[in-house]
Amino acid sequence: MYTKCCSRAVALALGVLGIAAGTQALQKVTRAGRYLYTEDGNRFFIKGVAYQEQGATSTDPNNPFSEPSTFIDPLQDGTACARDIPFLQQLGVNTIRVYSVNSSLNHDACMSALSAANIYTIIDLALPTNGSIDRLSPSWTTNLLDLYLGTINAFNKYDNVLAYNVGNEVIVDPAGTDAAPFIKAAARDVRAYLNKISSSALVGYAAIDGDDNWVLPLAEYLSCDPTSANSGDSSIDLFGLNNYEWCGDDTPAAYSGKNGDFAGYNVPAYFSEFGCVKQPPRLWTEVGTIFSQPMSDIWSGGVAFSYFPAQSNDGQFGMVTINGNSVTTSDDFNRLKAQYGNVTFPTVPSKSSAGSTQFPSCPPNNSTWLASTSLPPTPNEDACTCLDGILSCVFTPKTSNTSAIVGSLLDFGCSSLGSVGGSCADISANGSTGTYGRVAFCDPNTKLSFVMSEYYEATGRKATSCDFSGNATVNQNAPSSVSGANAAASSCLTNPSAVFTPSAPSSSAPGSTGTGTNSSGGKNGAASLVGEGNALIGLAVTAVFSVLGSALTFA
Ligand SMILES: *[C@@H]1O[C@H](CO)[C@@H](O)[C@H](O)[C@H]1NC(C)=O
Ligand SMILES: *[C@@H]1O[C@H](CO)[C@@H](O)[C@H](O)[C@H]1NC(C)=O
Ligand SMILES: *[C@@H]1O[C@H](CO)[C@@H](O)[C@H](O)[C@H]1NC(C)=O
Ligand SMILES: *[C@@H]1O[C@H](CO)[C@@H](O)[C@H](O)[C@H]1NC(C)=O
Ligand SMILES: *[C@@H]1O[C@H](CO)[C@@H](O)[C@H](O)[C@H]1NC(C)=O
Ligand SMILES: *[C@@H]1O[C@H](CO)[C@@H](O)[C@H](O)[C@H]1NC(C)=O
Ligand SMILES: *[C@@H]1O[C@H](CO)[C@@H](O)[C@H](O)[C@H]1NC(C)=O
Ligand SMILES: *[C@@H]1O[C@H](CO)[C@@H](O)[C@H](O)[C@H]1NC(C)=O
Ligand SMILES: *[C@@H]1O[C@H](CO)[C@@H](O)[C@H](O)[C@H]1NC(C)=O
Repeated sequence: MYTKCCSRAVALALGVLGIAAGTQALQKVTRAGRYLYTEDGNRFFIKGVAYQEQGATSTDPNNPFSEPSTFIDPLQDGTACARDIPFLQQLGVNTIRVYSVNSSLNHDACMSALSAANIYTIIDLALPTNGSIDRLSPSWTTNLLDLYLGTINAFNKYDNVLAYNVGNEVIVDPAGTDAAPFIKAAARDVRAYLNKISSSALVGYAAIDGDDNWVLPLAEYLSCDPTSANSGDSSIDLFGLNNYEWCGDDTPAAYSGKNGDFAGYNVPAYFSEFGCVKQPPRLWTEVGTIFSQPMSDIWSGGVAFSYFPAQSNDGQFGMVTINGNSVTTSDDFNRLKAQYGNVTFPTVPSKSSAGSTQFPSCPPNNSTWLASTSLPPTPNEDACTCLDGILSCVFTPKTSNTSAIVGSLLDFGCSSLGSVGGSCADISANGSTGTYGRVAFCDPNTKLSFVMSEYYEATGRKATSCDFSGNATVNQNAPSSVSGANAAASSCLTNPSAVFTPSAPSSSAPGSTGTGTNSSGGKNGAASLVGEGNALIGLAVTAVFSVLGSALTFA
């Protein structure tokens, strides 16, 4: 880690200074072939633990996955990190996974202390409620892009970000696989942005486990090249599987199915969560199996779930209890510590024999895999801002809690528009047919203004048509030269299907972007688990707030 120099005393002094100044960089981890390597050429395995306190969850039947509506950023409290890092070191982890962070807060203390402890981070970019790709009405929009890039901007200065996840458990069943094009577009745009800012961080996705008939095509799809030109431009670098198949004192056969499934996979894969609680106590005997051959030829480690207490229908996943500044470890913690302490990373294959990563063509669609290979365009902030300025009737909410009302207003607006012969096709996106309306990448508020304007114009610009119970206002500033929503869209969206390298969010100062709240209709967010066959929802963060289903009747 240090360059050779001088006396041992001086080297130690430099080391100490290095840590204090945060200049003692951790080695970069990069992908070669389907494996991860540190700069010195050694294979890298994720020996991790999930590190996020559980947010607020409800047991509402409308929230089947117990997804939280709030989150607690675990990387903004330097005192808490200082309290926990000695325990993370005892556990022997080299990585923590964090499910939601707030880019406006300061993460310096935690990130530099983790770096000094040789601990990397996997940062999920999504937030609870409206800060993630909506599983029921998926789209890839300017507000999400801004949120994601705002978080990347806030973390780009740290040397210990291993990966950014563009989604966690967005898809949970075959019917939801039409969300995959939006996840892949997010990976594409985040990849392009990381390249632009010369970040070596990996782009990941964490999948809930489930039936092979959709989990396998999902893994393949996220790392395929839709143009069949062996390009990685829209590929993830790292596939995470939240896997809970090994319960109690199981045997390596527990993983034989998954090993077969991923034997020929093209990018690094790991268990983004593991640690079944269905047959307590947890013995963590899977650790030896995961980190040795034959599994080490297929997987690059895993993240044990979870450091902090995490309640689920299946039991309690936590390994420590926290009381103020004191941490009490459990037997569960001690058993994982013993298992992790016994791990020696396999060294094969060497980096030179890992080859280059291949990007095959994408899996064809069928009845359990609905995703089109035609991806949505890059969300274009300037185009949507332009629309906001010139539409004839605009959404002017009387509340700042807009995500609580925008879904029902969109439904109402689209059905009103349908009743006068219009359609919501311009704001709709369909990942199974690969058709994306030209305004579909705008944020929900702009989409709503667009629909309101179309309705207002279709009804002869009657003042009463631009009201929506007091939620809409005629835009006096709309230029008379642009006549109608259709013309506005044509003038602002000159190339609506463009794929390009996105820019930093307009409010790009780290801290001013991407602050979702726990406001919306309230399903999902950061922390809780439900058993379902071999599938277990982890800290799922997937928004469900805009129900466009009925709108599409008119599309
Ligand atoms: C759809 O294709 C995938 C492979 O991409 C396959 O695993 C799955 O079984 C297929 N589904 C059906 C219903 O054939
Ligand atoms: C530690 O690892 C060695 C070699 O892999 C194995 O033989 C031994 O059983 C392990 N010890 C424990 C406590 O798992
Ligand atoms: C996408 O289009 C298909 C075919 O028209 C339709 O069956 C499906 O319901 C549409 N999906 C959405 C989310 O509207
Ligand atoms: C694949 O998707 C296309 C476009 O939506 C659709 O027409 C076709 O029926 C789908 N094929 C299967 C096997 O579902
Ligand atoms: C705006 O729309 C919401 C949702 O439909 C409705 O509850 C509210 O009364 C409307 N008016 C105002 C002024 O918020
Ligand atoms: C982020 O932190 C700021 C400052 O405390 C707060 O105003 C904002 O609501 C937070 N954002 C989220 C998404 O929690
Ligand atoms: C979520 O909704 C709130 C208002 O309710 C808004 O301030 C925030 O920007 C939204 N977040 C995203 C990512 O759209
Ligand atoms: C977030 O949700 C929690 C629990 O539902 C609530 O107590 C809190 O007031 C909410 N915070 C905000 C900023 O809405
Ligand atoms: C926003 O509205 C939702 C639904 O009405 C409510 O549950 C939530 O607490 C509100 N959030 C804020 C920040 O007021």
